[in-house]
Amino acid sequence: MRLVRLIANLGYGSRKEVAWMFREGRITDPDGEVLYADDKVEHAHIRIDGEPLDPPTGLVLMMHKPLGVTCSRKDKGRVVYDLLPPRYRVRDPALSTVGRLDRDTSGLLLFTDDGALLHRIISPRAEVAKMYEATLAQDLRGDEQALFASGTLMLESETTPLLPAKLEVLTPRHVRLCITEGRYHQVRRMFAATGNHVETLQRTAVGRLQLDGLQAGAWRQLDANDVARLFEPATL
Ligand code: URA
Repeated sequence: MRLVRLIANLGYGSRKEVAWMFREGRITDPDGEVLYADDKVEHAHIRIDGEPLDPPTGLVLMMHKPLGVTCSRKDKGRVVYDLLPPRYRVRDPALSTVGRLDRDTSGLLLFTDDGALLHRIISPRAEVAKMYEATLAQDLRGDEQALFASGTLMLESETTPLLPAKLEVLTPRHVRLCITEGRYHQVRRMFAATGNHVETLQRTAVGRLQLDGLQAGAWRQLDANDVARLFEPATL
């Protein structure tokens, strides 16, 4: 791909603006030698104002989504993209969240610009484990583990039952739940179906990839090993 297009697609500016950046000598190699728009250079050898170029297409990120931000590009309030570098919002191909977490759910949120990977992670057939920790408004009534594991629980206004899910009881109002689907408000609706209410909800892991001390609001790029961990079987 020509350099102007490559750099413009990473969100640094329009093609016209990027062409000007070349003319101004802002785009160089690691030794500071000015690059020209028709040069053939590896991605890793490009610097803009002395800084390495953002990662190429195939980007995968994880964020510790804080409470109170929305998984949306445009929302009146704070959105998850506000926590990333502004250029990441306008990359082409677009960087999308892999599924969503509710505004009032915190925890591990993935982003990628790789559509095939995104599909592989969210497809129920792939059975990627999503781990949640929840606190509940009322004590468990006692049959939740069996009900969630049964594969027969039908949520309101749905036509197919949920796949079996595993519940670990930490205390009568504090649980861990492992699900392999990502239906709308799934965890909250599962507990609502038992007459309970989720007070706090955090996603702690996807597959075997965990938050591992990543602070709320922070994010990091995933490498191939991290991505492989998403698909490793995981149970509670
Ligand atoms: N289930 C929910 O109810 N909310 C989330 O954010 C994720 C799973």
